[in-house]
Amino acid sequence: MEIRAALCFLAVMSVEPSPDCPICQRLHDFIAEWRIKEPSWHNAPVPTFLPVGGIDSVKLLIVGLAPGVRGANRTGRPFTGDYAGDLLYGTLSEFGFSRGTFAARPDDGLELVNASITNAVRCVPPENKPVGGEISNCRRFLTPTIEQFTNLRAIVTLGTIAHQSTIRAFGQPVAKFPFSHGGQNDIGNIRIFSSYHCSRYNTNTGRLTTEMFKSVFADVRRYLDDLPE
Ligand code: URA
Repeated sequence: MEIRAALCFLAVMSVEPSPDCPICQRLHDFIAEWRIKEPSWHNAPVPTFLPVGGIDSVKLLIVGLAPGVRGANRTGRPFTGDYAGDLLYGTLSEFGFSRGTFAARPDDGLELVNASITNAVRCVPPENKPVGGEISNCRRFLTPTIEQFTNLRAIVTLGTIAHQSTIRAFGQPVAKFPFSHGGQNDIGNIRIFSSYHCSRYNTNTGRLTTEMFKSVFADVRRYLDDLPE
């Protein structure tokens, strides 16, 4: 128990969980099962995807939900190998937030431009559903992740869980900043743009169309381009 507490304390100070993060027992056990089934996979917390320009170049942060088991949990890069990544990376490229060709592999050479991608929960959850305690546990990484980007001006939150965890990371009550697709809220000098998650479920059911998703990023592009130097 003492070792666990010490690990938790160290983790509080870090932007990334340790590769064998013990904080959420259920997620730790789930990953352990996948390490046995698929030893060649990443099977660990998925780190934030940073641009080549480094932390100081980041103006936009995208906050997803959690790695998919056969996607980011397999490849080790957010939204890579996940169905959701096809729409996300295609849209980022269209609005100038990436360069290179996305090929759903971490070695495809795709580079983010002034943008970074992270997840509210860094470990793959069973059935893509993190529970409340896991979401709040993992906020100890989301908060310093946001804080490290000193030039950050925009965040896109994908889905209600990412939205609420981001609002809480700012120490704000979610009731004051409710989720709505296409919604925009300013917290300090950072504008939070909310979108339905670009999951296969949401696009298949028509809750989120490609046009709806692109329109959020068109708003982000306009907002960033219109900011004074
Ligand atoms: N892959 C991720 O990394 N995050 C999501 O939210 C969905 C898929």
